[in-house]
Amino acid sequence: MINTNKKANEDKQAHWDYIFSAKEDAELGWSEDDCSQTLSFLKHTAISANSTLFLAGAGTSKLVDELIKTDANLIVNDISAKALETLSQRLNTTQCQYLHYDLGLPFNNNVNKSIDENFAVDVWIDRAVLHFLLTEEQINNYFDNLKSTVKCGGYVLLAEFSNTGATHCAGLAVHQYSVDEMQTRLGDKFELIDSKEYIFVNPFQQERPYIYALFQRIS
Ligand SMILES: C[S@@+](CC[C@H](N)C(=O)[O-])C[C@H]1O[C@@H](n2cnc3c(N)ncnc32)[C@H](O)[C@@H]1O
Repeated sequence: MINTNKKANEDKQAHWDYIFSAKEDAELGWSEDDCSQTLSFLKHTAISANSTLFLAGAGTSKLVDELIKTDANLIVNDISAKALETLSQRLNTTQCQYLHYDLGLPFNNNVNKSIDENFAVDVWIDRAVLHFLLTEEQINNYFDNLKSTVKCGGYVLLAEFSNTGATHCAGLAVHQYSVDEMQTRLGDKFELIDSKEYIFVNPFQQERPYIYALFQRIS
């Protein structure tokens, strides 16, 4: 019998691997040289050398280069092995731990045995990753992974296409977000600290409305 979940997972990985193999950063519709919008939200989180940060789908983002300057421990995740390879070659540092994982799957499954299910993070950072998860099962798995990983007192930054944003990216449909939906899915253990609608102008000069929201885990 064909395992359709496994097949869908392999298809998604292949899709992203193809993009990161075929295109330069400047050709990626989400690429930004200036990460100050994300960094301005992270100022609330008091990142230090003792912090552990989780990048949900880092791609080849220059945000990672900026976060390395904080001396924090970085867990850099992506579904694309090609993106991780490109990023790790560029960064050439031992400060990052690389994780190759589909966040639409539960951390406690057996797909990737290299993951330490008990890791805990101070800040979970997601720019333009969550919105690619489309089924309730994938979205619930993502939020369960997040909730089991972010420490009490820790933070979650979600930056996703907003309800007024684009419906597709990278050739894939997206699930648009509001702050209310993020809060509902996070539940009452997470408190909203700040949020902002932000129009990102991509490398092709197209406007891409995002919603940025920072939450703190309070219990
Ligand atoms: C639009 S790009 C954003 C990359 C990066 N966060 C940035 O801001 O430049 C989406 C990224 O999420 C990754 N991704 C997509 N689906 C994922 C999933 N289910 N689990 C983990 N990463 C995923 C892709 O490989 C890609 O690197």
